[in-house]
Amino acid sequence: MQQTSIGRSTRRVDAIAKASGHTQYIADYTFDGMIYAKMVRSTVPRGKILDISIPVLPSGYSFISAKDIPEGGKNQLHMIKTDYTCFADGEVRFIGETIGLVVGPDRGVLQDLVDQVKVTYEEGEYAVTIEDGLACKGGAFVGEDNCFCDFTINKGDVDEIFAGSDRVFEEEINTGWQEHVHLETNGAIAMPEGDKFVIHVSAQCPFYVRKSIASLINRPYEDIIVRQSVTGGAFGGKEHFPDVLAGPLLVAAYVTGKPVQLIFDRHEDSAYSVKRHPSRTRFRTAVDKDGNITAMDVDVVYNAGGYESCSYVVLQRGVFHATGVYNIPNSRVRGRAVATNTFPSDAFRGFGAPQTLFAVETHLAHIATQLGIDPFELKKRHFLKKGDVTVTNGHIYETVVLPEMAQQVLDESGYLEKAKTYAPGSLRGVGISFYNHGGAFTGNGEQMIIKARVRLRKNSDDTVDILIGSTEMGQGFQTALTKIVADELGIGLERVRYPQPDTSVVSDSGPTVASRSTMIVGAIAQRSAARLREQWVEGKELVVEEEYTHPEGFPWDQSTFQGDAYIGYGWGACVIEVEVDPLTTEVNTKGIWSSHDVGLAIDELIVHGQINGGIAQSLGYAAMEKLDFSAKTGFKQTGLSDYIIPTSMDFPSQVCTLVDNPYEFGPHGAKGMGELVFNGASAAYIDAVSRAIGKEIRSIPVPPEILMEMM
Ligand code: MTE
Ligand code: MOS
Repeated sequence: MQQTSIGRSTRRVDAIAKASGHTQYIADYTFDGMIYAKMVRSTVPRGKILDISIPVLPSGYSFISAKDIPEGGKNQLHMIKTDYTCFADGEVRFIGETIGLVVGPDRGVLQDLVDQVKVTYEEGEYAVTIEDGLACKGGAFVGEDNCFCDFTINKGDVDEIFAGSDRVFEEEINTGWQEHVHLETNGAIAMPEGDKFVIHVSAQCPFYVRKSIASLINRPYEDIIVRQSVTGGAFGGKEHFPDVLAGPLLVAAYVTGKPVQLIFDRHEDSAYSVKRHPSRTRFRTAVDKDGNITAMDVDVVYNAGGYESCSYVVLQRGVFHATGVYNIPNSRVRGRAVATNTFPSDAFRGFGAPQTLFAVETHLAHIATQLGIDPFELKKRHFLKKGDVTVTNGHIYETVVLPEMAQQVLDESGYLEKAKTYAPGSLRGVGISFYNHGGAFTGNGEQMIIKARVRLRKNSDDTVDILIGSTEMGQGFQTALTKIVADELGIGLERVRYPQPDTSVVSDSGPTVASRSTMIVGAIAQRSAARLREQWVEGKELVVEEEYTHPEGFPWDQSTFQGDAYIGYGWGACVIEVEVDPLTTEVNTKGIWSSHDVGLAIDELIVHGQINGGIAQSLGYAAMEKLDFSAKTGFKQTGLSDYIIPTSMDFPSQVCTLVDNPYEFGPHGAKGMGELVFNGASAAYIDAVSRAIGKEIRSIPVPPEILMEMM
């Protein structure tokens, strides 16, 4: 048996090819006879399409739209539901909605032809904000109330507590849109292959793409083969959104019989892609005479945009995280996802949890200040611990090590001392936040919906191929999984390969979302490898396949949202120190200290990379990433010169600590962590900035120009 590489960091399996520039991304692919596509998009936020006038196209060029969907095909994308139309037909709901594709051999002339397609609309009044949507501005276009979904969960008896409570704190917290800014923009190629079609695509979930688009040309899923191209970042933005490219491309390939490529440039990718849901969270919080929180009544609304896409499940996660890492004895949380005429909102690292976690952390900090105590004092009194009842009346099954994690960040940062010495409004401040993230699909999703399968193939040369649909998108899963399998087999890493998924070859291990890959797929792969080791015969070809088994004793009722929404959580604590420049109102971040419980790190360096990146992305969300909506263009900021994301110059190097707290059902004790690390830094930052300027902040982002107004 060779020495295990679990825990220690090893060179990433994709490192050399990526660092040396040898990796082929979707934009590098070429095929004989390949033609190119550009999208014709709606230019109004809401309207009826009266006419589409197409110029005389040069030979070899065509305009592909709803009319090209063959008989029996359905003009829809199958995401969680099928409300997302592939080609706008009759009406448009947002700027940038796909109307058609112009396809042809010379990329250089496509934009010109697209500009000559004239669409006439009867424009309608439109909704942009959550308030517009709830008021059904321009008339509801989803149900009668414009809500894609509306549900409430209860724990204890909120009304009774409020009736007899000493003090009630009411507050509204808002968060804005956020753009994923994966370094590689979206792109896909559709092409015929034999009597089937192949989609090459930069995506997180190859099996989602297949399922979403097959009915467009009235074929079974198996007739659409999806091959994931190396994906240069995704962050949830390539969960369902690749379907929006792959669908029209499939129709174009069907009509032309040629490979058709569509690659978004940065402007298109920012202006016309899904975003993080803006949110509005209202709290009513009851506090007793000793300063303990006794009840919380929370109303969460997410701006879902023009189609539902993932909103229902994003909202569920937001609602289930709305009381944070705290045991609030009585709580009620209502969640709604409201339709508006903006680009659909969708999955984004944290999947709905960052919005409500930001809200509850900020709200508690404000309550503490009004009670005259330090936010940390208030928060630690209510930390969840093993055995506690959750908001969905399930239980916390694991040991929660938040007190130790808190101590760690307090010691490293000198928080308590600094919190005392930096007076409110002194332009210096420290902030603190605590957060968690439920691992894997919510409730019984893993068991009832996904049913992941993992296939390992031992070749006659005694190498092993991992054949699954889970994808690498920068998070390090390819390396983590290769290590888990090699370690279990007791062979070197170089003998285990994990090729890019191809849905005609691999088993469906579920989507690469919800930080589930290492925790769920990794555990199944470890079990598969153990079986392969038992059957191992040198020189012989062998295939083993194992499927997910749900641990016993974790009840969940999906119709009432009662029970264990998650079995295991990742946990985090973060302290941030800032100094605000009185003239420019620029915020100088002086220190970032975090502690995370990820169960056990399969590779420490990868985990540190995730923490560094996740925290930076979370700080960008709070401090600078501003998106406004304009009736003319949709989003106003449509590129990296006006949509500002952090660089390594914006934040100092971070002090990151990991605590070992092995998770019973994870491989070597590992839990999900890729999203956890996004969930909390924004609240710690805003807490620090609020104290520095001596004013409560209730809305993010807060770029310097907004701070200037506040000061
Ligand atoms: N890290 C990088 N570098 N690139 C990404 O696209 N996506 C995040 C996170 N970390 C992402 C990332 C999101 S949205 C998810 S759900 C998790 O990684 C997925 O990780 P896992 O399923 O491998 O745990
Ligand atoms: Mo991650 S938002 O679940 O892709």
